[in-house]
Amino acid sequence: MSALQKFIASARKLHAEEKDAAKRWEKMIPVLQELIADPAVKEQSKSWPACRQSDRAQNLLFYEDPDYKFVINGLIKDPRSRTQIHDHAHNWTLYGVLDGRETIERYERVDDRSRPDYADIQQTENVKVGPGKVDLVAPYQIPAEESGEERTVAIIVRAEKAGGFLQGRYDPATKKYWQGYGPEQIPYELK
Ligand SMILES: [Fe+2]
Repeated sequence: MSALQKFIASARKLHAEEKDAAKRWEKMIPVLQELIADPAVKEQSKSWPACRQSDRAQNLLFYEDPDYKFVINGLIKDPRSRTQIHDHAHNWTLYGVLDGRETIERYERVDDRSRPDYADIQQTENVKVGPGKVDLVAPYQIPAEESGEERTVAIIVRAEKAGGFLQGRYDPATKKYWQGYGPEQIPYELK
């Protein structure tokens, strides 16, 4: 059984057994850690194509579960590229670093949410991470990720496929808030 097949089997078992979403996603952390520790997965990832970062980002789509709807995505960033500051709406997200070192940021909203196009956010975290790191992003949390001098590869597991619903975007300089569709899903076969 490949590391990917093993991951899918374990994730499906957790989805069948643990009905509490917060607990389930905590329990998914070591399962993803095991997948990104697999040398064969890392070797394969060397040929994965880079994903565009713009208002509409891209993710490679490796797998969508037919029953539980979770998906496995790849996010490959060229050196010196960064994601927007964004949220994932209601979607639970596990972000696992497979290759390269990158910076993971987290922001908190400090305004009263009374103005539709306005959001005041403050950075609460800015950590340099490397292969093996798994970051759990709960619904409506606000992350951004930035590659440094290296190409970076992340495997992302989401509760459901992104792209079909609106997610928040934030610009701390202008305090602008807007929404856009999540990453475009590029089907990619993983062995
Ligand atoms: Fe994200």
